[in-house]
Amino acid sequence: MSKALQSKSPPPGEPPSSKDNSGRRSWGLLITGGVGGTLVALYAIATPFVMPALRKVCLPFIPATSTQIENVLKMLQNRSGSLVDIGSGDGRIVIAAAKRGFKAVGYELNPWLVWYSRYHAWRDGVHQNTKFYISDLWKVSFSHYTNVVVFGVPQMMPQLKKKLEEELECNARIIACRFPFPCWIPDHTTGEGIDTVWAYDLKANRHETKSLEMTARTEF
Ligand SMILES: C[S@@+](CC[C@H](N)C(=O)[O-])C[C@H]1O[C@@H](n2cnc3c(N)ncnc32)[C@H](O)[C@@H]1O
Repeated sequence: MSKALQSKSPPPGEPPSSKDNSGRRSWGLLITGGVGGTLVALYAIATPFVMPALRKVCLPFIPATSTQIENVLKMLQNRSGSLVDIGSGDGRIVIAAAKRGFKAVGYELNPWLVWYSRYHAWRDGVHQNTKFYISDLWKVSFSHYTNVVVFGVPQMMPQLKKKLEEELECNARIIACRFPFPCWIPDHTTGEGIDTVWAYDLKANRHETKSLEMTARTEF
């Protein structure tokens, strides 16, 4: 056996040299760093998707289907001006509306989805007509918007109805995807099953709500 080969491994029973030890330590550090870094990255990516499910009103990210988006666009025919998607997810409704000439805005809690939406709007050439904000829908006012789109969950609809009634102008149209608003009577409905979309003209529904309140008060 040559001298070079003999010097690589220590004779049986003797501890490994300090050179072997430091090599192993470097590998150990590299693997620990790699695994730790991957876990931190996974945590940072996954947390914003999981958090909405842990809030008082659980509103997870479920992207609208293409048919649902087409149905929303049908409800926007003959409408113009500003539009907001409340909980804008990956931004497809905002982008589709911007392509139809709306100044469209999305409010979304998940920063990854907001960054993705901004990139998507830029890629589709509508970034000048779109804005995406990382915001809690309960902490912003929607008073500037004449068209409001929401794909929510049934638990949040009564509270959101109250908020929109307080904030929006009479000429506003509200479009609900998949889950309708309680009490309001839709002016238009399209689609079926999970793709159903309801449109409410606030003017008519404010009148309806007021009449109901008056009746309730008189009956009492
Ligand atoms: C059902 S998804 C709808 C996504 C999109 N509008 C669509 O139709 O494809 C609801 C979205 O609302 C977001 N969200 C949940 N709670 C929120 C809050 N408090 N403020 C803003 N966005 C919220 C979720 O992250 C999710 O992306």
